[in-house]
Amino acid sequence: MSTHPTADDELVEYHTTSTGNRIAQGPLTSDTSQEALIPARAYISPEAYSAEQESIFAAGWVWAGYAHWVPDPGMVHPVTIAGRPVLIVRGDDGQIRVFHNSCRHRGMALTEEPVQVTRRIQCAYHCWSYNLDGSLAMTPYFTRERKGRTGPDDRDALSLLPVASAVWAGMVFVNLAAPVDDDATAQFAEFIAPLTERWSHIDFDRIHLAAEREFDIGANWKLVVENFLDFYHLPFIHPQVGPVTASLDVDDEVLAPHIIGGRYPHGAAGKAAKTDDALPDLGQVAAELRESQDIFCLFPNALLFLESDWFQVIAFDAAGPERTIEHMAVFVDRAAGGEDHAVNRKALTDVLFGVNEQDLPILYKMQAGRHSPASDQTSLVTHWDQVTAMFQQRVAQRVGYGRA
Ligand SMILES: [Fe+2]
Repeated sequence: MSTHPTADDELVEYHTTSTGNRIAQGPLTSDTSQEALIPARAYISPEAYSAEQESIFAAGWVWAGYAHWVPDPGMVHPVTIAGRPVLIVRGDDGQIRVFHNSCRHRGMALTEEPVQVTRRIQCAYHCWSYNLDGSLAMTPYFTRERKGRTGPDDRDALSLLPVASAVWAGMVFVNLAAPVDDDATAQFAEFIAPLTERWSHIDFDRIHLAAEREFDIGANWKLVVENFLDFYHLPFIHPQVGPVTASLDVDDEVLAPHIIGGRYPHGAAGKAAKTDDALPDLGQVAAELRESQDIFCLFPNALLFLESDWFQVIAFDAAGPERTIEHMAVFVDRAAGGEDHAVNRKALTDVLFGVNEQDLPILYKMQAGRHSPASDQTSLVTHWDQVTAMFQQRVAQRVGYGRA
């Protein structure tokens, strides 16, 4: 059954402000809520981190990497999901598959660095090798005979163990808890449907990487998400996005319990980057959507921004209780990938990276504050923090924090 809203079956109620912006009716009821949905210790403790890794990152669909990390057949890119090493592999057939990064003989990780192989992925220990579809290829001297190609009777039983995966909008998603079959494909389609429907006017097959950067941040992953969902700070921390009236002009948006965020009806961060010589749109974008910016957290670890002519992803690896590694990528239309658009592309990506850099000191200080016992007595503001509270409530329910 589909859980995303239709026009007359909204997931949440919305209030409208006098300036016409929509506020989601989230968990916060009075003006401020001083009862923490997530305790401060959950932002610093190794135990809470482990619990979240298991009950969130190992329990459903999560962003694992970018398709452009393995552009060609034979490319193998290792990543760690919920503490488990996995390999993202581009096959001879062009398909991306994901496998547990563990040789079926003695369990050694096959590679810890991105590699390009010609035909097979080989374990360095006893030289067992695997085809790009994960099937067992070679097992030298398996029977201790010096001659002949020998191997186990049941080769299929020793294929690399697959992980359920899906590719959408240039991103690779995995689900460590799902079976690897057609059900997983259908499950992912349902997971992503609210976004594919909302963004049906965008041709994600045409996206072209404009720039990518990694940010290694000394803050808990939940603060990264909460800051992303915090529209209140924009005029104070990112003054270049426009006058206060423009940066406060944002609607809360709840597409599904796992897809929450907002919308700038008239654009925000991208505005500063727009020039007279605009980049081509990412599809057939209706006139009323040309200035609109969508901002969605695809729970738990993909933060998405979409304007008519660019798509930005800040996806992250929750690397430790107080460490998050962001992989930020900005995509434009394929037609904007050439030299003639180089100046505009750089102007756009400079602005977007600059906005993200402005948030770094905020995240460090938010993390520092979580070590204070007073952090359990902070307040969320009903008028601004409903989507933040919805995110916290989802985490709290999964892990079993507090009153949730
Ligand atoms: Fe920010």
